[in-house]
Amino acid sequence: MTRLIAVASGKGGVGKTTTVVNLAASLAKFGKNVIIVDANLTTPNIGIHLGMKPPMKTLHDVIAGKASITDAIYLHDSGFRVIPAGVHLKHLKFSIPHKLWDIVLGLFGTADAVILDTPAGLEKGAKAVLDAAEEVIMITNPELPAVTDALKTIRIAQKSGSNVLGAVINKVHGKHWELSARAIEHELELPILAKIPYDISVQHAIRAKKPVVLHNPHSPAAKEFTKLAADLFDIEHESKSGGWNIGRILKRIFGM
Ligand SMILES: Nc1ncnc2c1ncn2[C@@H]1O[C@H](COP(=O)(O)OP(=O)(O)OP(=O)(O)O)[C@@H](O)[C@H]1O
Ligand SMILES: [Mg+2]
Repeated sequence: MTRLIAVASGKGGVGKTTTVVNLAASLAKFGKNVIIVDANLTTPNIGIHLGMKPPMKTLHDVIAGKASITDAIYLHDSGFRVIPAGVHLKHLKFSIPHKLWDIVLGLFGTADAVILDTPAGLEKGAKAVLDAAEEVIMITNPELPAVTDALKTIRIAQKSGSNVLGAVINKVHGKHWELSARAIEHELELPILAKIPYDISVQHAIRAKKPVVLHNPHSPAAKEFTKLAADLFDIEHESKSGGWNIGRILKRIFGM
């Protein structure tokens, strides 16, 4: 079964694209077949995070009827497939149509997960992606404006019938003025799926145009992204909450 997951936020710049590429790279390492779709048509940057250069077919071409979805899929070195978006100014006139669902439907059965990178905010484009997705992961930073905006996006996603799995708190500095995970959980009425530290390795990885889980797998952010991927797909891995314990080792060896 293909899971269709949108990675969304209220506020921009909180780390959606970073989460999408690192989830995909971690899942690919675990042997999962993943397609990521840059459904952020106004400020698309999956291609930038991954060093993909035009000319290439994009989601814009698919929406315009100039390419089929299979023409716009690229296998990235990181082990997952990518449907990029067009980055030219002329592409700004495009918006995600309600037919996004029909477009992604063509990917069902071809992957374990299709992960959608969503535009920030509550505009039409974001709503169309949230409408199409079956599951949503909400990204926020540990500060009030990001959390307040996340709450609005959560309500919109829930209204459209999506299952909002929980929130990821990204760029955590661990400072006393930040909102705690507990406060965010309470505010959003959602479980916290991961706390990703603010980690300069993420920026080094973007510079190197590689997901941080591949560029610097032992960095604190990479470890948390890996754990998030393992948790989401219920994959046994030492990074999973609690690490290895005797019960889990026995279960793995003997199926107990
Ligand atoms: N855990 C982290 N530690 C340090 N820097 C980070 C972290 N996560 C993201 N960043 C930085 O924050 C910036 C924004 O990240 P990203 O592009 O993933 O956000 P976004 O939510 O997709 O933004 P947009 O709303 O514009 O699409 C990037 O430059 C990235 O380097
Ligand atoms: Mg982005």
